[in-house]
Order: sequence, then structure tokens, then C-alpha cells
Amino acid sequence: MKRYHLTTFGCQMNEHDSERMKGMLESLGYVEAPERDEAELILFNTCSIREAADSRFLTHLGEARKLKRERSEVVVGVGGCWAQSLKEEVFERFPFVDVAFGPGQVHMLAEFLTSDSLSAQGYFEFEGFTGHLPSRRTRPFQGWLQISVGCNCACSYCIVPSTRGREVSRPAGELVEEVAAMAADGVREVTLLGQNVNSYGRDLPRGEDGQRASFAGLLHKLDAVDGIERIRYTSPHPKDMREDVIRAHAELASVCEHIHLPLQSGSSRILKAMRRTYDRSRYLDRVAMIREHLPDVAISTDIIVGFPGESEEDFEQTLEVVEQVGYDSAFTFVFSPRRGTEAATITEDLVPHPVKSARMERLVELVQREARARSQRFVGRTLEVLVEGTSRNDPERLRGRTSHNKVVNFTGLAAPGELTDVRIDSATSQTLAGEELLRDRVTRALRASPNPPARAAR
Ligand code: 5AD
Ligand code: SF4
Repeated sequence: MKRYHLTTFGCQMNEHDSERMKGMLESLGYVEAPERDEAELILFNTCSIREAADSRFLTHLGEARKLKRERSEVVVGVGGCWAQSLKEEVFERFPFVDVAFGPGQVHMLAEFLTSDSLSAQGYFEFEGFTGHLPSRRTRPFQGWLQISVGCNCACSYCIVPSTRGREVSRPAGELVEEVAAMAADGVREVTLLGQNVNSYGRDLPRGEDGQRASFAGLLHKLDAVDGIERIRYTSPHPKDMREDVIRAHAELASVCEHIHLPLQSGSSRILKAMRRTYDRSRYLDRVAMIREHLPDVAISTDIIVGFPGESEEDFEQTLEVVEQVGYDSAFTFVFSPRRGTEAATITEDLVPHPVKSARMERLVELVQREARARSQRFVGRTLEVLVEGTSRNDPERLRGRTSHNKVVNFTGLAAPGELTDVRIDSATSQTLAGEELLRDRVTRALRASPNPPARAAR
């Protein structure tokens, strides 16, 4: 039996693609090796979103080269966005790589492995959804659903449109079937994935009713699938965040109380240079519409610091928006020039490194202060938590997630995959802490028991 080892970098789409890669390899008879040095097939699913992602991966690739020197029969495969962005250059620069493939060519890995070809092979077309491949889920109760691939935006800093191609949506009927199959398999929480989920369906033909498929419509269809208790999605683009989607959060029980709304910058001037197609006030209007319909929803965001030309004033406008919105959490990034992108060609008004670092520090401090203040609203409340496992810091405690996407560490008895009620006792900027309401749990267990003790005693 051949063994494989797969290391995944990057976003949730890559996590999803890796689950599909694993499913595909296992259907070919491969088994997963616990360590890289025990595998005959060493695979990487790569990311190139920022320079740091590249360098982290290259350290791992160096280790694969060493292992291949020791055991020449080892096959090294590199998939994902880094591979796509370099294409054939991968083989010139890293001749020990046997196979390289982009995110649209994961299925070709199977073809490569079952062919007799010993020469290096590269597959870089944009075709095929990894969502069509068999999957091996990391957690049996959580599943990813790839609703579209690719991105039609032209954000000037972003490498993704070139690594994942134009946007292509999957038909809703196919997605409903996939989610129903997941539910039958024990999945309770599904996360819909796309580079810009709320432009879903614009490329699909109109239905018999003459209507175009929409993201809100898809949420309605998936909410109706029995057994799916929670629906999340990532990422929407603020320009396409429409009222129908916000209403779906309010109307549909399974759609979680969390919206990720990437800001990138609070300065209209910088947003224009980033080609985000919204300005500060349009972004804030969307936030106001969200808050009007969903006063308690958690809003998170992505922010880039130090985009070329960002002045102190521009940066202060970002701080202002952060303060005004009051994010529940934010991912903050220092601008990193990426090969092939428009922003990487800008040579004027670059922000010096120490300035970027200082701004980042100020931003993170504000983000944490806001997040800490926001999370205090949960203290004293009882929230439904999907249990994910044991707490990272304390094996005696459990860890789960609320609908607001807050991590909760708590004492209790529930098993992974269960939804249970937790009373929240304290909150930091990142996590909540509390105690499972065991009384309710015992009552529920007794009610569900085929032989309730009261009857047995009679
Ligand atoms: N530099 C820094 N951050 C970036 N992101 C995307 N491209 C870059 C880049 N070149 C950030 C954006 C995006 C998130 C996934 O990564 O904030 O929303
Ligand atoms: Fe995901 Fe973007 Fe990284 Fe590709 S480059 S893996 S799309 S984060």
C-alpha cells in the first residue's frame, strides 16, 4: 500500500481542496502517512497570497528535496496557487518536483499517479471543480461546499484571479444534492466557499421561471435541507452584499449570525487604487443595513496596511472605520507585492517597512480593543455551541463555536459534533469562556431515552 503525506497552506478553499485530494488518493488505494518522511508521495497544497506564504512553503519544499535525495522513489507533487502562479517555471527552479498542478486541475493528479509517465508533468488549465471529487472530511460533522471557483474582481493587490481563473458557479440543484448527502453522512454545519460568494449564479443560465440563480436563493434552498443546523459562507464582497442576503440571515434559522465583510482600507482614495469598486461611505451604508436587520450579528473583516501611497491620513481613516463599525474580529495584513498584480508594479510612494509595522501595531491594538468590548455583550447570555473538541489549553475543558463564530472554551460533557447550551461567564477579544447547562442536557437525555427512569421506577 502506498502512503501519501499532504501539507496544506492558505485559505479555507485550500482546506476543502485538500479534503478532496485526500478522498481522491484514498479511492486510488493510498493511505495517509502520519509523517512526511514515511510517505512515498509527498504533496503540498500551496498558497501565494502574501510573500510570507511563499517563504513558509519553500522551507517545507526544501525538506521534501532532502527526503527525495535519501529515497529516490519518492514522488513530490505541488498543487494550488503557488504552483499555478509559476506554472512550468516550477520544474526549472525545482527540478526534483515530479508533478505540479493548479487549483483547477486537482483531478489530473489521479491521472498522473496512474500513468506510466516518469517525466515531470504540469497541469494548469482552469477547469473542473474539486467539489466533484470524493472527500475525506477532517471533522465528520462539518463540511465545506464549493459553490463557485474563480474570481471576476480585479483587486489590484490580489494574486487570486490569476491563480483561480474566471468565476464559474455550480448549479444550485447539484449543490442541494451535495448538502443533502453531507447531512445524511452526519454533517451539521456547512461552510459555503467561493472567492466572491454573493456574486454566485450570475454566470448560470436563467431558470425556467426566467430568474437568475442568486446567493440569497441558494441560502434558502440549503436552509431547507433536513439535518443542516448551521450554514456559514466565505467570502462575500461588500459591493455585492445585497439586502436579500442580509434578510436571509434574519429569516433562515440555519444561517449563522456572522458576516465577514472585507474592508481592506477605510480611505476612499486607497480603495480606488485597490480597485475595490466601493468607497468608504458605500461600505458604511452596507454595515448600517446589516445592523438594521441584524442588530446582534458579528461582523469581521480583512484589512491591508501599507498599500502603496497610503498616507498617515489614509491610515487614520481606516482606524476611524474600524472604530465606527466595531468589528467582532479582524484579520490584518501588511501589504505584500505579488507577482503579476497591478499593485506590484507601483514604484512611487511605497510605504517604508518601519511605517507599515508601526501602523500595523496601532491597528491591531484598536481591533483588539473593539473586539474585547464587543464580546462583552455575550457575558451572562446562554449561547448554542457546536462542540469541536477539547480546549487547546486545557484538556479538561471543551471547545466549540457559537453561531457568531466565537470560540468558546467551557466545562461540560458534550461530545464533538453536538450542539449544546453554554452559559457565558467571561470574554476576551478572541474567545469566550463558560459552562455547559447540564441540567438542560440531562433533561433532554431523559426525554430522548426509550426507557425514562420515572417509568422504570413504577
Ligand atoms: N498583501 C497583503 N494582503 C493581501 N490580501 C490579499 N492580497 C494581499 C496582498 N498582496 C489579504 C486581503 C484579503 C485576504 C484574504 O488577504 O485582505 O481579503
Ligand atoms: Fe486561497 Fe488565495 Fe492562498 Fe489561493 S492564494 S490558497 S485562493 S488564500
